[in-house]
Amino acid sequence: MTIYLDHNASAPLRPEALAAIGEALSACGNPSSVHGPGRAARARLEAARRTIASLMTARAEDVIFTSGGTEANNLAIAAARAAGARRIIPAAFAHDAVTAPAAASGLPVETWPVLSTGVVDLAWLEARLAAASEERLLVALMAANNETGVIQPVAEAGRLVREAGHLFHVDAVQIAGKAAFDFAGSLAHFAALSAHKCGGPMGVGALIAACDAGVSAQIRGGGQESYRRAGTENVPGIAGFAAALEAALSDTGEGARIAAIRDRLEAHISDARADITIWGAGAPRLPGTSCLSAPGWASEIQVIAMDLAGFAVSAGAACSSGKVRRSKVLDAMGAGDEHAQSALRVSFGWSSTMEEAEAFAAAYVNARSRALPRAAVAV
Ligand SMILES: Cc1ncc(COP(=O)(O)O)c(C=O)c1O
Repeated sequence: MTIYLDHNASAPLRPEALAAIGEALSACGNPSSVHGPGRAARARLEAARRTIASLMTARAEDVIFTSGGTEANNLAIAAARAAGARRIIPAAFAHDAVTAPAAASGLPVETWPVLSTGVVDLAWLEARLAAASEERLLVALMAANNETGVIQPVAEAGRLVREAGHLFHVDAVQIAGKAAFDFAGSLAHFAALSAHKCGGPMGVGALIAACDAGVSAQIRGGGQESYRRAGTENVPGIAGFAAALEAALSDTGEGARIAAIRDRLEAHISDARADITIWGAGAPRLPGTSCLSAPGWASEIQVIAMDLAGFAVSAGAACSSGKVRRSKVLDAMGAGDEHAQSALRVSFGWSSTMEEAEAFAAAYVNARSRALPRAAVAV
């Protein structure tokens, strides 16, 4: 049986989410219908909206349900453009769900540099904002990095951006449900969320848009989501999203348990091999993310080797083409070719156990030793 250590790609569905989805699926009714079943569906939808809003410190009316994190990021960029943003500044490690719509917006895109610790360079941002002309900027920051798990100084960045009168977007897809995220405290205009990263179903997410940030629909049709996103809401998925987030954040011991598993894995690997680097460990990180690199051993080969050994891990962001790319995040951190080409992400979550981490560490160290004679060819 495969041991699943790829929670940052998609976490297994939590039992609480499965129960909520099942309950909602067995009821009928369109939340926009006025009859009893419609009103019951509406009540379920609005309860989920209130739950998610309160867990993210946002107002319920500011939560717009979408088909996932990608759509939420797209919606934020379109809204910022409509609000007068004339240039987009994403952090160098931004996800494709931000960089692709930014590139397609037609606006100039400038990269916000990242330090070798994996944290964005706040001093650069401060200087950049001080030098900004009259043009309105959209600054975009991923709250916790998808590959290293490094948690970013979102509130500090938000304060700088707000004080300078610009727009701030937070891609909170990886942090939500894994560590605290305070939308109000972030001072963000927008934040993107996704259900499947924290144990909810795939294909559901939300954009939180602050009351001073208008959003006009990109998917046009009916008046759902207060005219900000047309289409009948995915009530079962949304109910599962709220249940997953609630389960994740109400278990106050979960983060420490997962961090202990991650620490055991990293200790085992670093004790056994000096030629494996652990990235982001000097900064605050999500509890369940470990980013490794093993120079001379290509990421793709590592993923395949570990798959054959019975472990599901990845080389970073899951690419829809199924290809393994060099690590854009390690590139942003200035790690160098040998590390960016040999990165591996191991990510744990609610269903992970210490035994799984130990089994992985032993198999990984073993595979590394066997791969070494061929390493020069592998890259
Ligand atoms: C940081 C980040 N943003 C956005 C996304 C896209 O989210 P979704 O899969 O819900 O479209 C992902 C998914 O990998 C992600 O890690």
